Amino acid sequence: MSQRIVIIGAGGLVGTVLAAQAAQCGHVVLSLTSAQCDVTDATSIERHIDADDAVINCAAYTKVDEAERDEDRAFAVNATGAENVAHACARAGAGLVHVSTDYVFSGDFGGSERHPYEIDDETGPLSVYGRSKLAGEFAVLAAMPDAHIVRTSWIFSGHGGDFVATMRRLAAGDGTVDVVADQVGTPTYVGDLVGALLEAADGTISEPVLHAANAGETSRFEQARAVFELVGADPERVRPVDSDRHPRPAPRPQYSALSAVRSTEAGLTPLRPWRDALAAAI
Ligand SMILES: NC(=O)c1ccc[n+]([C@@H]2O[C@H](COP(=O)([O-])OP(=O)(O)OC[C@H]3O[C@@H](n4cnc5c(N)ncnc54)[C@H](OP(=O)(O)O)[C@@H]3O)[C@@H](O)[C@H]2O)c1
Repeated sequence: MSQRIVIIGAGGLVGTVLAAQAAQCGHVVLSLTSAQCDVTDATSIERHIDADDAVINCAAYTKVDEAERDEDRAFAVNATGAENVAHACARAGAGLVHVSTDYVFSGDFGGSERHPYEIDDETGPLSVYGRSKLAGEFAVLAAMPDAHIVRTSWIFSGHGGDFVATMRRLAAGDGTVDVVADQVGTPTYVGDLVGALLEAADGTISEPVLHAANAGETSRFEQARAVFELVGADPERVRPVDSDRHPRPAPRPQYSALSAVRSTEAGLTPLRPWRDALAAAI
């Protein structure tokens, strides 16, 4: 009998796709939305978790800009909430996979040559969101050293309001579009990410921190051009701009590509190149 997968934060982008894919893989799935299980309420978590469950925590305060003026809430969900989930799993004897982010890194290599971030590279979040997620990583591993932290980045589904969906909509129009060219990272297709989360949940990987992102790196500008090409629109309509043309409350790392080398050595299947994943999504 396949392990039960308990998904916390099941109403979000990752949680929704994860629930569908876990069920398709033959798992019994318990999907818990924020209304059914609030991670800031430790007792609300415990009553849902049994021994031998594999819990995947997708719950997070993800409004990166709003977090700058709502620090307490960001830390309550992303740090204390994550810790509550880890304590509940440890007490129940369940496994735990906790999702984290490339925004735990700064993108600043202090003058040395930049390289895709490896699992043990120095962190240095620039934003409240990044700091709250890093605090969550520490809290989870302190409460449950055999939990997995899976960092990912720039998630897209191609639907709803994500970056790829927005570019598709703009490509259907006829104007030009300015997109920042000085932020580089790793776009990750949500369908590929959830496969990695399920793999991490099966309990055969010993490395606590893992990176799961599509292979390669790109700027938002290049990613937007790739979307235009794939839908048959003229990519020249996408024009590069610097991020200071679009100032936002929360600073983003200028470089946050994730390396999967160590995660692959630890047994996680590497994800395909981001362009292939983008083509599949579109
Ligand atoms: N999206 C990205 O590009 C990206 C990149 C790197 C890492 N990540 C990480 O990936 C994970 C999943 O993110 P996502 O993109 O799926 O975000 P999302 O769509 O915003 O989903 C987050 C979910 O968490 C729920 N939630 C918020 N507060 C909660 C609470 N107190 N208790 C229980 N659930 C709560 C939300 O429910 P409500 O809507 O009801 O509040 C929402 O369903 C997060 O850990 C995020 O940090 C995301």
